Amino acid sequence: LHVVHVAVEMAPIAKVGGMGDVVTALARAVQDEGHRVEVILPKFDCINYAEVRNLRLRGDFFWSNSQVKVWEAVVENVQTILLEPTNGFFWVGCIYGRNDDAQRFGYFCGAALEYLKHHSGGTRPDIIHCHDWQTAPVAFGDCHPSRPVFTIHNLNYGADLIGRAMAAAAVATTVSPTYAAEVSGHPAVAPHMAKFYGIINGIDQDIWDPEEDRFLPKNFGVEDVAEGKAAAKAALRQRMDLSAAEVPLVAVVTRLTHQKGIHLIKHAAWRTLERGAQFVLLGSAPDPRVQAEFNQLADTLRRQYPDRARLWFAYDEPLSHLIYAGADMLLVPSMFEPCGLTQMIGMRYGTIPVVRRTGGLNDTVFDLDDDEERAQQHGMERNGFSFDGTDAGGMDYALNRALSSWFEGHESGEWTRLQQRVMQQDWSWTAPAEDYIELYYKALKPQG
Ligand code: ADP
Ligand code: GLC
Repeated sequence: LHVVHVAVEMAPIAKVGGMGDVVTALARAVQDEGHRVEVILPKFDCINYAEVRNLRLRGDFFWSNSQVKVWEAVVENVQTILLEPTNGFFWVGCIYGRNDDAQRFGYFCGAALEYLKHHSGGTRPDIIHCHDWQTAPVAFGDCHPSRPVFTIHNLNYGADLIGRAMAAAAVATTVSPTYAAEVSGHPAVAPHMAKFYGIINGIDQDIWDPEEDRFLPKNFGVEDVAEGKAAAKAALRQRMDLSAAEVPLVAVVTRLTHQKGIHLIKHAAWRTLERGAQFVLLGSAPDPRVQAEFNQLADTLRRQYPDRARLWFAYDEPLSHLIYAGADMLLVPSMFEPCGLTQMIGMRYGTIPVVRRTGGLNDTVFDLDDDEERAQQHGMERNGFSFDGTDAGGMDYALNRALSSWFEGHESGEWTRLQQRVMQQDWSWTAPAEDYIELYYKALKPQG
């Protein structure tokens, strides 16, 4: 197969959230199965060029009143085409957040189709795989003879465009089975259920690997998880200026938006501290009002619990690695979550997830007390703590049990055994990539 992804995020060169991780890791996983895979991305001026290999200008073409330069490069071993309109659409310092985002991405989509049709210098791809509303116009544009596949990462943005892409796509997917069910009644999705599939994301096991991770003070595997995590926890506490008391550490790594359950994150900070544990948040809020609220919370906590809580407002990839490794529990209390990657990353580092039962969180976390049967049905072992509902009481139920398990089980070794079990669960892209390949073949079949 020849598969071309058209996207506006690609880790690690242009990433805002999990969609960037998914584009790169899915592309690589399908390529590893022997297929030809490329990614087409806007040439943002905020691209992290340190991670771009073999960049060279390949040519240019004209599209809708502007010249477009075509750059080729290799990113994480994947052939990547960077389209640079010389009208300056992507010379704006960031990926999102301008009021002309729709116009800029619309232009990019038109240029990507024009490139594929007349300027790629080769055969047309079998599959053009588009991601979220930003590249929906490619899916409902003129892809012929390629077949458009469309993936919803988040239906909360650009639902109108997504609906049109769903209608045009040969096959459509979203990033977990539970989210697929949750959005099945949405007007953008409901008419297209016959070609709509929920495939759980994986995580890139090379990037998220405690045995090789260069951001940790000590690498570790299943055998020496206790020592490895103790070293990471000590380094994290030192960095955050927290005390070294023998208490559990609860962490949150997130974009601070409504989706992520902001009121529950705030409540969890207080609850954790009341129980004598420590709390670390790494987050960035795109909305200044939300940021102001968290600044205030940070000040209050600093005064009241100077050596047990730290809210760190940044987008900081290396620090995120130290937190995933150094924390005992990772909290993800999302209001909705199409898939969610942080709970899987945490588990890979032996950090126990505490999550709200929604979307992909429901498909990846199986409650130690409540989900014996459900875990069995999925062929999984229980691995964390979950809750329903959107109020603080529901979350307390899960968080309290997690903290109690730590207090009761960390000396006997029971907590370590749980960590070892969780670390061995497979969140790789191997199985999801096979599912996508099967769907690509399905997309190629004549539509009946
Ligand atoms: P979403 O895409 O909705 O933000 P995901 O869980 O799918 O949520 O993906 C989030 C990705 O972004 C993960 O790779 C996570 O490690 C990363 N991330 C989120 N917030 C931060 C932050 N403040 N600093 C560093 N990495 C972050
Ligand atoms: C979106 C969703 C997140 C998902 C990610 C990758 O950002 O919010 O749940 O994990 O896309 O598919």
